Amino acid sequence: MSSRKNVDKLNQIDLVRKPFDELLQESVKEVFENIFPPENRQSLLEIGVGTGKLLKWLGDDWKNKILFTEPDQKAAEQFCEQFSQTCVDACAEKLPSNNDSLNGIISLCVMDIVKDQASVAKEAARCLKPGGIFLHILDMSVNYNFILRELKAHQLIPLMPPPLTEAQLWQQDLILCDQTQFANLCELMARQNHPDHQILAEYLEKLRTTTENTKAFMEHLESEPSKNSFFQRAFSNTIRWLENKGIQLDEMLSLFPASSLELFSQALETQFSDKFEIVHNDLKTNERVAYNQKSLYESLCCGTRFQQPINEENKKIDLLFPSKLVQNLHKCELQQTAIHVFCARKK
Ligand SMILES: C[S@@+](CC[C@H](N)C(=O)[O-])C[C@H]1O[C@@H](n2cnc3c(N)ncnc32)[C@H](O)[C@@H]1O
Repeated sequence: MSSRKNVDKLNQIDLVRKPFDELLQESVKEVFENIFPPENRQSLLEIGVGTGKLLKWLGDDWKNKILFTEPDQKAAEQFCEQFSQTCVDACAEKLPSNNDSLNGIISLCVMDIVKDQASVAKEAARCLKPGGIFLHILDMSVNYNFILRELKAHQLIPLMPPPLTEAQLWQQDLILCDQTQFANLCELMARQNHPDHQILAEYLEKLRTTTENTKAFMEHLESEPSKNSFFQRAFSNTIRWLENKGIQLDEMLSLFPASSLELFSQALETQFSDKFEIVHNDLKTNERVAYNQKSLYESLCCGTRFQQPINEENKKIDLLFPSKLVQNLHKCELQQTAIHVFCARKK
């Protein structure tokens, strides 16, 4: 597998990380130095190296302690060139290591990309020595394929087209609702000939069909603001239409604010808990600037949107939700990092 597109994406991620680079480097180094003190800093393997951000943060001292692996040839080439290192072409599901041979498997922003986390957990348990550590860090928004897979399993959909979800607490970047209730709303609108009923029905259909279709739909929404605002308008109209009937949206739909990073962390823990002790599975928040006045937060809902505040120019975006859902939203310029530390059990 190899593609220029992947490398371009990785280079874009670099730009998004830039404002938080120092903060991230500090937290990542601290975690790594604690978990792998110098006497335990060998026989490490990194999965999904990409173009080498993790090594850049850790520094040159770590270079010869780690076996680097990456399935994307172009990314690996860039990494090798930049760091004068070698990199093995391997997926996390099939690692080039013997049984019980590693002290640590490390990674940055990989576990929401892999298709089969359970296989990765099994392979990690095979390669790690008993007591060896699986350490994963996620500092970006969660890949939306992953989120949609999880939501589908629970018959839920994110209510708004990304990136327009707002929620009560800033890290709760998703507002979820039950698919059946949403279908009932569409049916009510159809019965009463609401002009937008087909638009909402399309939204529901796209989100509950297969992941690949959904992914394409999400990408389409992201790449075409006009389509996005088309759905936005339909949602706004629906909320107003209900209000004119004396009905609040949350009387029709049970709304569940949720955090995509938390959802991800829980799912990962479930996959690893069979063969690993969970040492740490939590979020660290870097508050670069925390405002006390109400401000909007650009959702990290579903994908390539990142953890940034909505800036002054974007403030014109309508609030589509009842104000009580957004009244406590008050922070911006935050960066949140999920840190997962799992310890391989004795066999
Ligand atoms: C979001 S990028 C992160 C790259 C790098 N770690 C970083 O944070 O900049 C995800 C990386 O995982 C790699 N990847 C995708 N599927 C993988 C798999 N099954 N096993 C290992 N790596 C995988 C991709 O090629 C890509 O380089």
